[in-house]
Amino acid sequence: LFSGRVEFQLSAPALKFLPEPTVPEIAFCGRSNVGKSSLLNALTGRRAIARTSVTPGRTQELNFFEVGEPTLFRLVDMPGYGFAKAPPAVVEKWRRLVRDFLRGRVVLKRTLLLVDARHGVKPVDAEMMKMLDEAAVGYRVVLTKADKLKASELDAVIDRTRAEARKHIAAHPEVLVTSSEVKLGIEALRAAVLEDAAV
Ligand code: GTP
Ligand code: MG
Repeated sequence: LFSGRVEFQLSAPALKFLPEPTVPEIAFCGRSNVGKSSLLNALTGRRAIARTSVTPGRTQELNFFEVGEPTLFRLVDMPGYGFAKAPPAVVEKWRRLVRDFLRGRVVLKRTLLLVDARHGVKPVDAEMMKMLDEAAVGYRVVLTKADKLKASELDAVIDRTRAEARKHIAAHPEVLVTSSEVKLGIEALRAAVLEDAAV
């Protein structure tokens, strides 16, 4: 499926610009620079369908990508959070957009919460997990940039992340480990996305 049609659909800076809720959606969220856009590219086997950047805070809107012909489901690249230099007004706009999207989007089947394997679950990530718990949106915690760690360090962060996930009602108990850079865990992630989208 991912090797077939994958196409950027639209970018929604506010809820009134969302596409019609006609197919299941899987959203990607996480801190700025965690690797959301890179993972979306790796997942779809595209080099640059989602824009990646070394500058945190690049993705400010909800970006929708259609998969399948005709479209079977959509992937949603969400704007990152926890960007230290973001002005309070931007943070507040982000919070509203994300919260209202999570609460009101009937076709949203699952969210992937990306966590940088070097940092583990930070307080801002725990806050995001709480927001997802409250919106009753199921999510999988996905460690990114696993290529940056030694095997022993990776084992330790997987254990800590799993323990954190198990404290949250809407979190899937198992943690996925990925690297877009060396294409680690991508097949398992594809399988998880297809299962969640129920296609
Ligand atoms: P925002 O849109 O700003 O929220 O960022 P993002 O989460 O979409 O991150 P993005 O995919 O743009 O990646 C941020 C930086 O991390 C880029 O410099 C990527 O090249 C790098 N990066 C992403 N994934 C990996 C990975 O698996 N391994 C390594 N080593 N670097 C990665
Ligand atoms: Mg991005």
